[in-house]
Amino acid sequence: MSARVFINEVAPRDGFQIERDFIPTADKIALIDALSPLGFAKIEASSFTSPKAIPNLADAADVFHGIRRQPGVDYVALIPNEKGVERALACGVDELNFVMSASDSHGRANLRMTADQSLARFEAMVALADGHDVFLNASISTAFGCPFEGVVRAERVLEIVARLGARGLQGVTLCDTTGMANPRQVADLCADVLKRHPDMALTLHLHNTRGMGLANALAGYQAGVMRFDAALGGLGGCPFAPGASGNVCSEDLVHMFEQMGVHTGVDLDRLLGVAEGLPAIVGHDVPGQVVKAGTAQRRYPLPASLR
Ligand code: COA
Ligand code: ZN
Repeated sequence: MSARVFINEVAPRDGFQIERDFIPTADKIALIDALSPLGFAKIEASSFTSPKAIPNLADAADVFHGIRRQPGVDYVALIPNEKGVERALACGVDELNFVMSASDSHGRANLRMTADQSLARFEAMVALADGHDVFLNASISTAFGCPFEGVVRAERVLEIVARLGARGLQGVTLCDTTGMANPRQVADLCADVLKRHPDMALTLHLHNTRGMGLANALAGYQAGVMRFDAALGGLGGCPFAPGASGNVCSEDLVHMFEQMGVHTGVDLDRLLGVAEGLPAIVGHDVPGQVVKAGTAQRRYPLPASLR
């Protein structure tokens, strides 16, 4: 088991895409600039999707051009199609994160594509990226369950991962889009993917919709996963998945791992400082817990009667 995990901060993409209000571009850039020096391996800064589908991220190019890139941090963009690849390459992103769904119902609701249709387009998308210095990752939504279809069989996900590998994708992210996964399921599927595809970088993308987010992250870690997506404050959700709610909270995940002696590379105190400012940016309270409770190192004075 590794003593270092790598965290991809996805609040600027997964978080801001579902906010009721458009977050001003300058606020997005300022938040990413505040997150950049904190030790994240990656920051998913935006997505290059149809602005009609995701109006909140219509300013992706301005965000990528506006941020100060920290050496050592990979700046990622989520992408559904060829046009997204072209737009992202024009901005010099470090990682193209192709998105598809394991279940055809969610694929059609979110992307107007079945899994087969997405996989066919990925071939053209990989070809477009040829010759560019970018990491190619694919995120598989509804990999642990679909809000329309229910169960998504592990065999189907494993087949998709194999087809992604054959198409030249270097990494794969298993996404629990609406928090349907349980720890045993996460451990089993991750162990299978790691065993069959040791050459592909495996990431877990978990939502805390049913309170199982951190338990699922721990189960993944114990199965050998070293890469996790997480969102500041626990923001997030797919606008085309009914019942979706926030990602595993970055500062809560970092806190859990650091408490266990598993290094994240992330400066938790400074991250909590940035998290404190998040409600003012989004205009509402956010689910993160450690920012409210303080870390496990927090101490209170004894009741006066016991002193
Ligand atoms: N960037 C910008 N514009 C894009 C685009 C992209 N990557 N892909 C398509 N468009 C534009 C087209 O140019 C076209 O514009 P027009 O109406 O002005 O001519 C319009 O969007 C429709 O294009 P089409 O190819 O027919 O797409 P679609 O309507 O079938 O939608 C997707 C398919 C994939 C583009 C759309 O569903 C999408 O962007 N989904 C993203 C969902 C998402 O990000 N969910 C959250 C993350 S899980
Ligand atoms: Zn998500």
